[in-house]
Amino acid sequence: MAGEKKVKAALLGLGTVGSGVYKLVQREKEEMMSKTGSGLEIVKVMVRDLSKKREGVDGSLLTDQWEDIIKDDEIQIVIEVMGGIEPARTMILEALNSGKNVVTANKDLVAEYGGELLEAAEKNGVDFLFEAAVAGGIPIIRPLKQCLAVNEIDEVIGIVNGTTNYILTKMVEEGMDFDEALAKATELGYAEADPTADIEGLDAGRKMAIMASIAFHSRVVFSDVYTEGITKISSKDIAYAEEFGNVIKLLGVARNTESGIEAAVYPMLLPKNHPLASVRDSFNAVFVHGDAVDDAMFYGRGAGEFPTASAVMGDVIDVARDIQYHCTGRIGCTCYRETPVKKIRDIKNKFYIRLQSNDRLGELAVIASIFGQHKVSITKVLQKGITDGVAELVFGTEAVEEYHMWEALEALKQRETIREISSVIREY
Ligand code: NAP
Ligand code: HSE
Repeated sequence: MAGEKKVKAALLGLGTVGSGVYKLVQREKEEMMSKTGSGLEIVKVMVRDLSKKREGVDGSLLTDQWEDIIKDDEIQIVIEVMGGIEPARTMILEALNSGKNVVTANKDLVAEYGGELLEAAEKNGVDFLFEAAVAGGIPIIRPLKQCLAVNEIDEVIGIVNGTTNYILTKMVEEGMDFDEALAKATELGYAEADPTADIEGLDAGRKMAIMASIAFHSRVVFSDVYTEGITKISSKDIAYAEEFGNVIKLLGVARNTESGIEAAVYPMLLPKNHPLASVRDSFNAVFVHGDAVDDAMFYGRGAGEFPTASAVMGDVIDVARDIQYHCTGRIGCTCYRETPVKKIRDIKNKFYIRLQSNDRLGELAVIASIFGQHKVSITKVLQKGITDGVAELVFGTEAVEEYHMWEALEALKQRETIREISSVIREY
């Protein structure tokens, strides 16, 4: 439309997510005016390697120079989808301090420097939005900050890493081994370039830090989140879990308790009737409990070109509206409390323990008494048989502070009759 108002944006990054954003902006050309009250145009696209072929992208928009963007006063929105801490952090700070609104999908950055970036946005009266940084296409940041704002939220549990959920699903349903399932997840584009961040729980830990900060109104950074991955989960544990009516899932668990915030990521045995137990393949889901809303669950695709670009574009459209109505900076930092974050040693969990012990009269009673001495109360015991004089014992416990369990396990390890503690997995 000739003479229509247009909001100008710059895209930093044209990889998986950036390409999706670019395509959606092109597709929405006609609709944007109706949706936001203005047109939207990407006027610069910053990449690292200008010599790469970029199909369907207007080559005249490409640049590898940040100055082309930061010095252009007409650019009102910077969409950061490059990833990593630097140079993204410096560029975003410079953009915010120049009065530009910023949308990002960068969980690494928000989980560590979210406070600093939100503060810069507030100081400059601009938007800093990051819906895509947690659980890709699933709306969760906006629901927590806006739709559920009246609630006192006490628990957020998430399956927030698609790669590990895919691996566990394949191990459970198809008997695939870990390495094969990881190779498939990589082939399908779910895994990070270095999948350590996925399989060791770091990616999920970053997402939990962001969600806990928003849900509990108190800053939680990535280093506050205890993380454990899924590399030690064996097909035997999966089979025992099944026998106990559970599935094993990599869960992010954040709780606001009287003694502080708990934030952790670990594999857990989850009862099959819990709504999160049916979240399969690379899907993500977040389960929230609030005092007014009760239980609410958010489910969908946590990664990929269009699901993630969908969340980025939701933010971009919101910024374009805010620009139209002169109300940018409307929703800033919501961390108005300072609640301490608990150390993992003080978090209470139920446990599943599988160990190998010499077959010896009275050994089970000794093991039970060692648990008892360390305040660990046993809820179930399973022994299937004896192979070459070694019994495999499986225990379930009541919830106990982690440090009591660590001390009990240490005491068990000192016994000559205990050949191996094969698995220690928490139970939801
Ligand atoms: P990607 O495919 O690796 O793309 C990164 C893009 O950024 C590339 O176009 C690259 O340029 C550009 N880039 C990187 N460093 C740069 C630099 N220093 N200067 C200029 N350009 C640079 O990454 P992605 O998967 O799209 O992820 C982007 C962001 O979204 C990350 O923060 C990620 O955590 C987040 N995210 C991704 C997903 C997903 O499903 N992929 C889901 C949720 C959130 P070249 O093309 O020249 O190499
Ligand atoms: N590697 C991530 C995952 C991508 O598997 O969920 C989205 O953050």
